[in-house]
Amino acid sequence: MPEQLPITTYGMEILRKEVKPIKEVDTKLIKLVQDMYYTMDNAEGVGLAAPQVNENISLCIVDISCIEEHKHVKPLTLINPVIIDKHGESVIEEGCLSIPEVRGKVTRPEKIFLKYNDFDMKELTMEAEGFFARVIQHEIDHLHGKLFVDYLDEDELKKVKAMLNKIKKFKVQPDYPIFSKA
Ligand code: NI
Repeated sequence: MPEQLPITTYGMEILRKEVKPIKEVDTKLIKLVQDMYYTMDNAEGVGLAAPQVNENISLCIVDISCIEEHKHVKPLTLINPVIIDKHGESVIEEGCLSIPEVRGKVTRPEKIFLKYNDFDMKELTMEAEGFFARVIQHEIDHLHGKLFVDYLDEDELKKVKAMLNKIKKFKVQPDYPIFSKA
């Protein structure tokens, strides 16, 4: 049975670290991926990166099929993903399971081209655009210690500052398990 993993939250050091590349896919990693899907689904998220479950490795998952207009988009597991090209620009409001109750407008490229490894460690490439590309970029940012709030302009940041401080002090309790103060 997959396990529900507690999610790391804003202010925790692991969310600001550069991850380590994955060198091989073993049973431990496969179990982690299963647990991450289970955790993401239970938290009603559309993406989750390994540092959000306290694992400092280059792994993230994306599944936007819970949204009606994207219901045919298959879940995507990315090992060692790298964005190699990007085009255009769009502004979309984002949120993050690690930053509960905070939302803000983020400008990002509209279309991306990326490479990643699959479970056989084979290198694959893919193209994504629109909302799907948006979520992939948000998750890959997590692998480099970057959070969506880093993109907010001064006015947007001002609006969410109090909530960010609350999260830092572990004073929020979303309806999914998070790490409590160490
Ligand atoms: Ni996030």
